[in-house]
Amino acid sequence: MTASSTLANNSSDNLPVESKQCTDETAVSSSSVRRAGASTTSVHAGEARHKPNAAITDSICCSSTYTFESTQAIIDYIRQKQDRDEYGRYGNPNEKVVERKLAALDRAEDAIIYSSGMAAIVGLLMTKLSAGDEIVFFDQCYHRSREFCAKHLSRFGVITRQVKTGDFHAMDAAINDRTKMIVSESPTNPHLSCIDLEQFVALGKSRGVETLIDATLATPFNVLPIEYGVDYVWHSATKYMGGHNDLLAGVICGSKEKLESVRKLRGILGGINSPHNMYLLERGLKTFALRMERHNENGLRIAQFLEKHPRIEKVYYPGLESHDSYAIAKRTMQGFGGLITFLVKDADWQQTAAVVDACRIPRIAPSLGGVESLIEQPLVMSYFDYKPEERAVFGISDNMIRMSCGIEDTEDLIEDLKQALES
Ligand SMILES: Cc1ncc(COP(=O)(O)O)c(C=O)c1O
Repeated sequence: MTASSTLANNSSDNLPVESKQCTDETAVSSSSVRRAGASTTSVHAGEARHKPNAAITDSICCSSTYTFESTQAIIDYIRQKQDRDEYGRYGNPNEKVVERKLAALDRAEDAIIYSSGMAAIVGLLMTKLSAGDEIVFFDQCYHRSREFCAKHLSRFGVITRQVKTGDFHAMDAAINDRTKMIVSESPTNPHLSCIDLEQFVALGKSRGVETLIDATLATPFNVLPIEYGVDYVWHSATKYMGGHNDLLAGVICGSKEKLESVRKLRGILGGINSPHNMYLLERGLKTFALRMERHNENGLRIAQFLEKHPRIEKVYYPGLESHDSYAIAKRTMQGFGGLITFLVKDADWQQTAAVVDACRIPRIAPSLGGVESLIEQPLVMSYFDYKPEERAVFGISDNMIRMSCGIEDTEDLIEDLKQALES
């Protein structure tokens, strides 16, 4: 199940009528109706076919409030006869285009965009959880998600339980009558473990709890968790969706029914995006599928190169047969993404840092998924203040390097890594 497979019509159901035309025309073949592919969807979905001033691009609509023609128009709006918003904190036209595009890409009924990935998860969990509720996480996860749940949700009486990634017996055992949601990343960061989504959804359904997948590293180009029955798909759109290391945004995809209360709370919490930011994201998304092809290719070829290099102890990449998740990844993913984690053989943290510092193309920075390759040492970038035994719990070793392969030429990146490892 991938973004370019042959499927029925939900994605275009989310589009305005005019843009339905855009995708459906290309989608119809003589014998059957074919769903538009990921690239057509990235370029056209969610947009009106005819825009103001006959412009091909959406203009940036800067307005903090929206006017009514008359008192009757306000009453019509309140009675929901008009699909619009009255104030910028509830959304803006540029956000709406991007939300429809992202929903179409993820094959979801709806998508709600936030000002960052973290704002998105906070918005969702604050809507769905109340004092006394519990959630269960697989333990390999973005360290700020863990921190929000453990340090902050706990102040509101929500209990977070963590179990070993992929251990469904442990997750089952951790669920009780108060559990509302089970949560996982797939693939995880930085170990790139992939979750069996069929098993994850089956567990959620059998125990009557909702399911949430952080699919930031996969993107809808590589995996479509909604098609497996996952309730909520979360992405940091800062990463592959924006794709140019120039914006922050986050999105939650799911059914209209489940997201209604989430959208209402977003209107109160106010973590929305400026129209300028949404223009950048819409523009970045136009090349999403094309970029993903290159990220996937660079990721796989560089992982294969590293695996054979004598200075490398281990490579974590789900597209390698040596990775624990290879079978799941092969079965469920279109490609394996651009993120690679590797261990430098017999290196302490300073020798590992020397490899990072010797790279000439990847820039040293956190984040991932942009056109520029980035490289970092998790120990230094995210876990420097942790004690060695705490780092060991999270599987962060001194000789670990994480590289986000951008869209530079594969051979250039390989040559660069080679000189950095051999210098
Ligand atoms: C896997 C994953 N999920 C979520 C986030 C949070 O996203 P943001 O930085 O847009 O708030 C990140 C950020 O690095 C991430 O790597």
